[in-house]
Amino acid sequence: MKILLLGKNGQVGWELQRALSVLGEVTALDRHSGTEPQGHCGDLNDLAGLARTVQALRPDVIVNAAAHTAVDKAESEHELARRLNAEAPTVLAQEAAQLGALLVHYSTDYVFNGSGDTPWQETDATSPLSVYGQTKRAGEQGIAASGARHLIFRTSWVYAARGGNFAKTMLRLASEREALSVISDQIGAPTGAELLADATAQAIRVFKGAGPDLSGIYHLSASGSTSWHGYAQFVIERARAKQAQGSTASKAGQVSQAVPPIKVAPDAIHAIPTSAYPTPAQRPLNSRLNTQKFQTTFGLTLPHWQQGVARMLDEIL
Ligand SMILES: NC(=O)c1ccc[n+]([C@@H]2O[C@H](COP(=O)([O-])OP(=O)(O)OC[C@H]3O[C@@H](n4cnc5c(N)ncnc54)[C@H](OP(=O)(O)O)[C@@H]3O)[C@@H](O)[C@H]2O)c1
Repeated sequence: MKILLLGKNGQVGWELQRALSVLGEVTALDRHSGTEPQGHCGDLNDLAGLARTVQALRPDVIVNAAAHTAVDKAESEHELARRLNAEAPTVLAQEAAQLGALLVHYSTDYVFNGSGDTPWQETDATSPLSVYGQTKRAGEQGIAASGARHLIFRTSWVYAARGGNFAKTMLRLASEREALSVISDQIGAPTGAELLADATAQAIRVFKGAGPDLSGIYHLSASGSTSWHGYAQFVIERARAKQAQGSTASKAGQVSQAVPPIKVAPDAIHAIPTSAYPTPAQRPLNSRLNTQKFQTTFGLTLPHWQQGVARMLDEIL
């Protein structure tokens, strides 16, 4: 199987390089790839270059992990966000349709307006609150209209051990400050890039082996849900426990791991509403995704969010 991967250095793209490698020959590109000797274009801002690259490589599967993901910045970069999140995936889908290739693409819980507290289903009406959400929805629509075989995975609150993430920010703040305020009325499921990449590879295998065309939108996130406040508490308590283990181990003469000294007290992590932390882009309050369709179609079980976050913390602490 020949696979073209775009956005190879993003959180999900990096993990996809690993997870897709067992499926076949992967050509992995990022936005700077056009300057390399083979000259394949991985820049979503260059629509003609993208089309040319797909025509030259003739992949069986295109996996697009690249996007304009700076949610607040997108509010003042509407045109760029539209090109990267809507026009580029549409071009990829049109080229995939010409070749009979499968396009795998990622979308977001931000296509919903966040009302209520029921997990969103794929068939629920979308109503994005932000430019990012609007342009991601336009990408979904462009792909669906292209006639290409496709898998669109809507996910939420993505983190990875590599690079910066919410957990690392909370750990840093918890070691610098005596009190923290974290939003408690946005609810979702922190989802690991590792899980997304592994689930994507499995889904491609099932898609390729299936008789019927499984094209469509699927909600794909870790199980369970929490608020940013609950997420922060979990991360800080795990670090505190590690720290305690570390001091016991060093008293016993064992080598302790590097754990940031947590300064904040458990009762000093304060819950605040979204209204107390204004941002340029409005975020949905209810980001819960119902993942039943994904789990049933692909025969996979999505683990609880705490499992992946705990594993990531074990890696970084
Ligand atoms: N992060 C989340 O919480 C979240 C939530 C829901 C859905 N999603 C979706 O999941 C997918 C993967 O997101 P992620 O978390 O892995 O995002 P990420 O870490 O921000 O990665 C996005 C990648 O896109 C690349 N990119 C930006 N502009 C580009 C361009 N013009 N041409 C080519 N590549 C470009 C970035 O490259 P540079 O590093 O060079 O800028 C980066 O490597 C995206 O479709 C995103 O919308 C993410």
